[in-house]
Amino acid sequence: MTAKIIVTNDSSAMPVFALSNSSVSYIFRVSIEGLLEHLHFGGRVEPSSCYPSEPKRLHRGCVVEFQNSPHYNLSDVPQEYPVFGTSDNRLPAFHAINADGNSTQVFRYKSYQILDNKPDLEGLPSARGGASKSLVVTVIDDISNLRVELSYTVYDDHNVVARSSRIINDGANRVTLLRAMSSCLDLPAADYDLLHLGGTWAREFNQDRLPVPKGRFVLESATGASGNVHNPFISVMDKGTTERHGRVFSSAFVYSGNFSINVEKGEFDSVRVTTGINPFNFQWQLDSGESFTTPESLQVFSNAGLNGMSQTWHSFIKDKLSPENYQGVPRPTYLNSWEAAYFDIDEDKVLELADRTKSLGLEMLVVDDGWFEGRNDDTTSLGDWYSDKRKFPNGIEAVAARVKQKGLKFGLWYDLEMVSPESNLLLDHPDWIIGVPHRVNSKGRNQLTLDLSRSDVQNYLFARIDQILSSGSIDYIKWDMNRTMTEIGSSRLSVDRQLETPHRYMLGLYCLIKKIVTKYPQVLFENCAAGGNRFDLGMLHYMSQGWVSDMSEPIGRLPITNGASHIFPPCVQASYICPVPNHLNGRQVSLKTRVDVGFFSAARGLSLSAEDIDKDFEALKRYVQFYKDTADDVVNGQFYRVQYHDNHVVWQLNSANSKTVYLGYFHILSAVNLPFRKAHLVNLDPESQYLLTSDFGVTNEQVDSHLSFGGDALMNMGLDLPYVSALQAEGKDYLETGDFTSRLFVFKKR
Ligand code: DGJ
Repeated sequence: MTAKIIVTNDSSAMPVFALSNSSVSYIFRVSIEGLLEHLHFGGRVEPSSCYPSEPKRLHRGCVVEFQNSPHYNLSDVPQEYPVFGTSDNRLPAFHAINADGNSTQVFRYKSYQILDNKPDLEGLPSARGGASKSLVVTVIDDISNLRVELSYTVYDDHNVVARSSRIINDGANRVTLLRAMSSCLDLPAADYDLLHLGGTWAREFNQDRLPVPKGRFVLESATGASGNVHNPFISVMDKGTTERHGRVFSSAFVYSGNFSINVEKGEFDSVRVTTGINPFNFQWQLDSGESFTTPESLQVFSNAGLNGMSQTWHSFIKDKLSPENYQGVPRPTYLNSWEAAYFDIDEDKVLELADRTKSLGLEMLVVDDGWFEGRNDDTTSLGDWYSDKRKFPNGIEAVAARVKQKGLKFGLWYDLEMVSPESNLLLDHPDWIIGVPHRVNSKGRNQLTLDLSRSDVQNYLFARIDQILSSGSIDYIKWDMNRTMTEIGSSRLSVDRQLETPHRYMLGLYCLIKKIVTKYPQVLFENCAAGGNRFDLGMLHYMSQGWVSDMSEPIGRLPITNGASHIFPPCVQASYICPVPNHLNGRQVSLKTRVDVGFFSAARGLSLSAEDIDKDFEALKRYVQFYKDTADDVVNGQFYRVQYHDNHVVWQLNSANSKTVYLGYFHILSAVNLPFRKAHLVNLDPESQYLLTSDFGVTNEQVDSHLSFGGDALMNMGLDLPYVSALQAEGKDYLETGDFTSRLFVFKKR
């Protein structure tokens, strides 16, 4: 069913807005005071002028009533864009200092517009429209002369509502924005759990689930990047919700800078979820006639549990958010030089790795860090984006051309937003960095952050990367970013605008990236920030894939992939087969398990030295072929979390045409007398037979063709998972003994 926006009038002749598709509805109305009251977000409800549930006006003890409205206490009224100081005690969506110095506003309904085309968010990444309808509701505060346009988009085929707001100063004097959230979702009082993702470097995306507490639960970043400590994503769900059952509300922010997601359970137990730019260390001077557009906040509803929520996010990201040029396109298998050579890279080594890349059947060679002027370790050279003459006497473009002559693609690494204190760039332009006067600049990985709010900095960076990309020899860019902001200020901004620096940086960054990706649509861009330090929907709007984590060791990667999969589909995730023992955690894991975990990312490769490759050459060659054969299925398929336990993990991936089903089983630590476990597969055809064509890599890929199971049996009875025991006999019912083992079952629908 196509998305619809129906506007009716309630019994007081006030407008009621109902946005729906065949599965979900988002409904709100205008109260008699002109305020926007939220009525419903969830399963589809036929638009009507009368609903069985609505905000109440009943006598409560010891509360303040909104401006002469009897029994109208805003602390218990679900609202669309709540403000501070007019009887709502919860954290508002909006807070600003008016020209007369106070911070009171009352936004009342003025008008609405229904659009077939989703409005563009100036200078910001946002989901595409198409097969959607948008509603823009205008509210005004006639004392401060502030106007806010609240924008909502509902889609035909996705259970997603996209929200943003635009604040316009129609007054004669400056207003200072302190808090301008992109969305507010007020949920009725109930027992909810919340789930969020976070961690730190090399341990990103750990999932954490807890009951929504009384008070306020806050996820935020103030470091200039969305960060790896908390991802700008949250789920709030009915208590008892599982992977497959239950109602889930989820919000994610299409932004890569400072964010704040607040879940507040107020005095009457209703729950408010606000998503937007972090108000901490934020101020924006809005002069007369100016406007401020908030980034986009996406709201998802699923009544099929957390997997249902993830399916919604995955298909929406694929269809509406990821760049269209690589949508559904299998990603090249690759060799990345980082863990193969680190900074010790030169023309000979690149050509040697290119030969190995070719002979393994891989499709692309990526030269990571270390290729530019004087870059022999991480203490120098960022900013000086010229080929190192000693390592690459003919220039990196010439090497790229030679690699391409071998029939390979060529990729290159940049950390463009950064500058090393020891660099010609900083000598020439000491004022080009993020910093504040008279303070020492703290360094992260020996580097400083360039001030991308400045157009001269953007222009310089564009010229540097453009010079290399215009050679036509580069097929892929790994866009890294290896530190967050400290001592935050810009030499270009006036004293009263210093707290605008982080958002202006993001606008500058997006402007630069957009210019580059628009000029080079054939280039595949990978977002990286020391792994997942800025892995968000903002960056993924411009770049088709991301380096999820520097944790390349598969057992360390399991919780990261599992956590990230709550929102991100395999098609945006990159991984590679690491050397053993792993360089970060020292773990020794078999090649098979490294391959099997990596299977569930669409961008797959390896980062091994020539010697490491030679040791496992034949096996690697087979695995590379397997990755290539399955590339289409993984980039276009549907991923499901089947089981996630301390000691084992099961994931499933169904190809887009549903004909092939992959089931990955990862067993972490060996132990004795473990339970027998089974996995209940998801979303199969109950009436079809599924032939177990390969149990990849266990028995030299022998096809066990006699095993054919009904889809109904695989889903309802479950598949016995192989058993691990040091006491075991040989056979298909066993995993190899020892720690860190895996199986990858491949079923073909008959
Ligand atoms: C951090 C990235 O996450 C790594 O993959 C690698 O590219 C290094 N930077 C290079 O300095």
